[in-house]
Amino acid sequence: MGLMDGKVAIVTGAGRGIGRGEALLLAREGARVVVNELDAETGRAVVDEIAGNGGEAALNTDDCSDDDGARRLVEQAVETFGGLDALVNNAGIVRDRTLVKMTPEEWDAVIQVHLRGHYAPTHHACAWWKEQGRPGHVVCTASTSGLLGNFGQANYGAAKAGIAAFATIAAMEMWRYNVTVNAIAPAARTRMTEGAYGSIDAGEGFDFWHPDNVAPLVVYLSSDASSHISGKVFGVQGNVVELYQPWTSFGEIVNDAGRWEPSDLAERVDSLFEGFPIAKEATNGMARLRYTMTQRG
Ligand SMILES: NC(=O)c1ccc[n+]([C@@H]2O[C@H](COP(=O)([O-])OP(=O)(O)OC[C@H]3O[C@@H](n4cnc5c(N)ncnc54)[C@H](O)[C@@H]3O)[C@@H](O)[C@H]2O)c1
Repeated sequence: MGLMDGKVAIVTGAGRGIGRGEALLLAREGARVVVNELDAETGRAVVDEIAGNGGEAALNTDDCSDDDGARRLVEQAVETFGGLDALVNNAGIVRDRTLVKMTPEEWDAVIQVHLRGHYAPTHHACAWWKEQGRPGHVVCTASTSGLLGNFGQANYGAAKAGIAAFATIAAMEMWRYNVTVNAIAPAARTRMTEGAYGSIDAGEGFDFWHPDNVAPLVVYLSSDASSHISGKVFGVQGNVVELYQPWTSFGEIVNDAGRWEPSDLAERVDSLFEGFPIAKEATNGMARLRYTMTQRG
């Protein structure tokens, strides 16, 4: 018995890295999987690997950030496997550059693949679940770069923070239709991170940064075992699962006379920082990460 027995799942960008591990584990847990991947060769290899393990999978090579492509992707799951139970939005790219050097093309490409790449398949999957009156699960892929900020990733971090917000709001709208929408912020050694950090040593013993470590949480969030959880953001690295607190306010100042004068704010705003772990100056939120690829082997 697997957590996904009899279910149908889509994973976008499933040809390599984290998405590949998600597709393989969903299949091992009993799901029939539509492997969406722009790079047909790597996508085909994952489909073949699933079949070789005794599972069922189909390849889709549409761009998941294209509205027609995303519609075809959902239709393919329904037509090939008779329905859809889970959508894992995983496809992603990076175009790292400091803001001043970043071109509009680098900005647009990242926003397109991540934000539209989440919106479009989720839109079509949710429309199908609502129309059919069937429950569903969506797992979105955010990042600590968005939740905490990361130098050189204004485009990627903005998209990833947007994805966390997207999951929160889609969850609110879809809760009444028995559809859950959660997000993960993973970290793993993949082609994407090798571009940023260089190759990361696998180390000895448990391979903390192996991309397949992300999949168990994603399978759980894709299954009916997690039907009571929605609109949440989880961190997942190695053998650790974290729960992120949403944006929240720490303190407040109130002007008893009504609307603030800018000059009064100049006197009072500093008091907001007193007693709270927030620095006034620009900081590197990633420095607060418990596990970083460059500091942990
Ligand atoms: N690796 C990490 O440490 C890390 C950290 C935080 C977030 N993430 C996120 O996890 C996800 C997977 O990343 P990864 O590290 O496995 O990257 P990866 O580059 O190894 O794999 C991403 C896959 O997505 C595919 N893809 C890209 N655009 C696509 C599109 N429009 N349609 C279909 N497929 C497309 C690529 O061809 C590639 O096979 C991404 O959303 C990434 O931003 C990764």
